[in-house]
Amino acid sequence: VVACLSPQVLAGQRVLITAGPTFEAIDPVRGITNHSSGKMGFALARAAREAGADVTLVAGPVHLRTPRGVHRVDVRSAQQMLDAVLAHVHEVNIFIAAAAVADWRPAQAATHKLKKDGSGQPPALTFVENPDILATVAASPRAQRGELYCVGFAAESHDVLAHAQAKRVRKGVPLLVGNIGPATFGRDDNALWLVDERETVELPPASKIALARQLVREIARRLGTDAG
Ligand code: CTP
Ligand code: CA
Repeated sequence: VVACLSPQVLAGQRVLITAGPTFEAIDPVRGITNHSSGKMGFALARAAREAGADVTLVAGPVHLRTPRGVHRVDVRSAQQMLDAVLAHVHEVNIFIAAAAVADWRPAQAATHKLKKDGSGQPPALTFVENPDILATVAASPRAQRGELYCVGFAAESHDVLAHAQAKRVRKGVPLLVGNIGPATFGRDDNALWLVDERETVELPPASKIALARQLVREIARRLGTDAG
């Protein structure tokens, strides 16, 4: 019912969205993750679908219901998220990276559960950096040619605007969305900064679904798909 009421500003568009945290294994029973709830990415998937897009949602480990009509691919680690994105990105013309991808993973996940050895010494974990999914996609020939529109997010604890502007350039994306984290993690409302090469727009505090619908309209406006 809601879908019929939404302006079909993304009719015929194909959208790929990452959402949620990733989980990086230490051993078979434990790992490292973060407090991303996935709510913003799921709200975006719903809003894009309501706006008429064909939506694929690559989701890290979250307990959220799949928005109606959205194709969902579940993953755990950053590497699996990258693989799923690369498997689907050629089918789409809009990529939105809303996931809170773990920046590092344990260099080697143990194949057996780590056990206390009685010495009182904790295991020494070493880390390696995860692939940057957004930067990888943004550097692809289709994105460079303008056939694939990439949108990034930045969760910052301070100086949101300055960090968002710098991150947009560093990631090489036309649009970057800044929010104030980690206070927003798991909450239903949020406020966003939209930064592109021309302007900065603030979307004042609202529910994540209301912000997602506004963001979808902003993307459609920049792509010129909202004209009809
Ligand atoms: N991102 C990604 N893959 C990563 C890290 C980040 O796709 N390995 C994406 C996020 O989904 C987000 C954007 O890049 O859209 C910015 O993520 P953020 O964590 O804010 O930036 P980083 O580049 O990781 O820098 P830092 O965390 O040090 O601020
Ligand atoms: Ca990061």
